[in-house]
Amino acid sequence: MSIKLAIITCSSSRSLAEDTAGAALSERIAAAGWQLLRHVVVADRLEDIATAIVDAADQGTDIILTCGGTGLSPSDVTPEATAAVCERNVGGIAEAMRAESLKITGRAMLSRAVAMQRGRVLVINLPGSEKAALECFTAVADQLEHAVQMSAGGGH
Ligand code: MTE
Repeated sequence: MSIKLAIITCSSSRSLAEDTAGAALSERIAAAGWQLLRHVVVADRLEDIATAIVDAADQGTDIILTCGGTGLSPSDVTPEATAAVCERNVGGIAEAMRAESLKITGRAMLSRAVAMQRGRVLVINLPGSEKAALECFTAVADQLEHAVQMSAGGGH
């Protein structure tokens, strides 16, 4: 099954060329046989991130991966931006990412990442470092095709 994804890296200090986390995620997406519709970097501003999520959802993506801005610093606003434009919490995805990540580093508890649905589009917050983003993506990747099927109204 081919699913359509977008990557939105949330960083005021990183350019697209410097976004190694986004690049590594896009490699994983290609390796899975999935389609990457867009990869953008937006500033750490709630309105900018929320707009980027809405734009990517309107483009017909199944899953939007945000990258970065989930921590505790005042500039980390990705979970709030996600909640501003999504309706339903998919708590298990964030729980799974944190549970797997805690086996690697206690700092995993410092990510406030959420996963939520905007209509049938699933938005998943990943942390911003390449290592952390890949670890969290790996923790949930196996369930994404089934998640997309269910979001589109399919059964088990
Ligand atoms: N999760 C995994 N799997 N591996 C990591 O190295 N780093 C943590 C956490 N989650 C980490 C992780 C750290 S140090 C922080 S501060 C938070 O993610 C938030 O990262 P962010 O602000 O880049 O989103």
